Amino acid sequence: MPYVSKEVPILSDEDLKNISISSSANNEKNQITGTLLYMDREFLQILEGPEKGLLETYQRIDMDTRHNSVNLYCQGPIEKRAFTQWEMQDAVKFPERTGFGTFTEFFQKTSDDKIMEMGVMLAKEFAIVISE
Ligand SMILES: Cc1cc2nc3c(=O)[nH]c(=O)nc-3n(C[C@H](O)[C@H](O)[C@H](O)COP(=O)(O)O)c2cc1C
Repeated sequence: MPYVSKEVPILSDEDLKNISISSSANNEKNQITGTLLYMDREFLQILEGPEKGLLETYQRIDMDTRHNSVNLYCQGPIEKRAFTQWEMQDAVKFPERTGFGTFTEFFQKTSDDKIMEMGVMLAKEFAIVISE
């Protein structure tokens, strides 16, 4: 289930750290894997795991006042997880890397049946960029 949300206030590093800490603990408990990207005041998050835990988690995230306009792009069963662990050690920032525009613009250009695949590709591509 990839979603994009927009941040209301400007979040400090401290806020991002707090999101990271509670997410890591909760997601591990709920067997949820995935990733969280942050760029141009938008979050892109991909979550995968058992349905019940996912829906509960998504409900909490959706109500969180640290962001708004949460837009869920797709949900449904997958054959295999794309992420082996919860890969959000620190909430990640990507200040100027916008070859494709914002996350919202990227998904607007992507056809519905490709959303999951492209979301994962984007997330992994960025992960590589960071570690360089
Ligand atoms: C962009 C964003 C992503 C989040 N991702 C997760 C997540 O993956 N898992 C999670 O449990 N909470 C996540 N949260 C935090 C939840 O909204 C909520 O604050 C938290 O789950 C409450 O857990 P606690 O009662 O254990 O502190 C996220 C919040 C934001 C703003």
